[in-house]
Amino acid sequence: MIRTVYVNGQFVSEPEAKISIFDRGFLFSDSVYEVTAVLGGKLIDWFYHVKRLERSLKHLNISPPLDGDTLLNLHRQLIKFNELNDGLIYMQVSRGSADRDFFIKDNLKASIVIFSQKINLLELGRLNRRLKVMTVPEVRWKHRDIKTTQLLAASLIKTEAQSKGFDDAWFVENDFITEGTSSNAFIIKENKKIVTRKVGKEILAGVTRLSILNAANFLGLEFEERPFSVEEAEHAEEAFITSATNFITSVVQINGKLVGSGSIGEITKVLRDQYLSSIKETSI
Ligand code: PDD
Repeated sequence: MIRTVYVNGQFVSEPEAKISIFDRGFLFSDSVYEVTAVLGGKLIDWFYHVKRLERSLKHLNISPPLDGDTLLNLHRQLIKFNELNDGLIYMQVSRGSADRDFFIKDNLKASIVIFSQKINLLELGRLNRRLKVMTVPEVRWKHRDIKTTQLLAASLIKTEAQSKGFDDAWFVENDFITEGTSSNAFIIKENKKIVTRKVGKEILAGVTRLSILNAANFLGLEFEERPFSVEEAEHAEEAFITSATNFITSVVQINGKLVGSGSIGEITKVLRDQYLSSIKETSI
């Protein structure tokens, strides 16, 4: 099915969608993005996503092209036009177009692209994946809190991980895990405490990360936000990743070492169930 997509003020059919070759998102990755999951035609964690988009734009001093209500409305229209039940909406805002120049001129007009992708997010085989990750040195820039489209390192490393028989990779800086190539990383210790890195410049403040911590709070599970080492992760009882499209997905091997028993952990399952039931209430 040919999708209807949104480009700079217009809904057009996918083959007609055009962006200038001078767009700074294309030339310099001077752009930020959000990926929002859709279940049953409704947006998951929308308000967190739109807030983070505003933060990313502010960091880069790009004026928001549209307000939150308009963005919500555009997302909803795309869901309708594309009969999207389950999947995601991708939104990218770039600083705009100008002759190629490292110096950033003022007053560029931001450009915006929004499109949908159908994915069966609740399929059991997908929900119950048991991931194997390897750890790799952190090679990304020092502003990982900004959700920019500079994703080449992460993309190359994920591909390398898969070519070596892993599903994904976790980045390591000064012996501590930062995050996954496109997800946040969590471990659960033998004392049942959930550990994940505190938000800061080192990692993206994942929307799902926050919702999972809210779920932990609701369930009365203890968590600690602090760095954890590769060794600590390799000796954890459970491990998982979070992201908008993976929700909470179990990690059962780290660098070839089995995490706990190698099956999806009990606390991981409880958190996932709580998360999935909470988003039913909060999706819009
Ligand atoms: N990626 N860390 C990184 C580096 C990410 O790229 C992502 C998400 C996350 C998780 O954030 P959230 O829970 O808000 O999705 C953490 C998206 C899904 C992507 O690039 O497709």
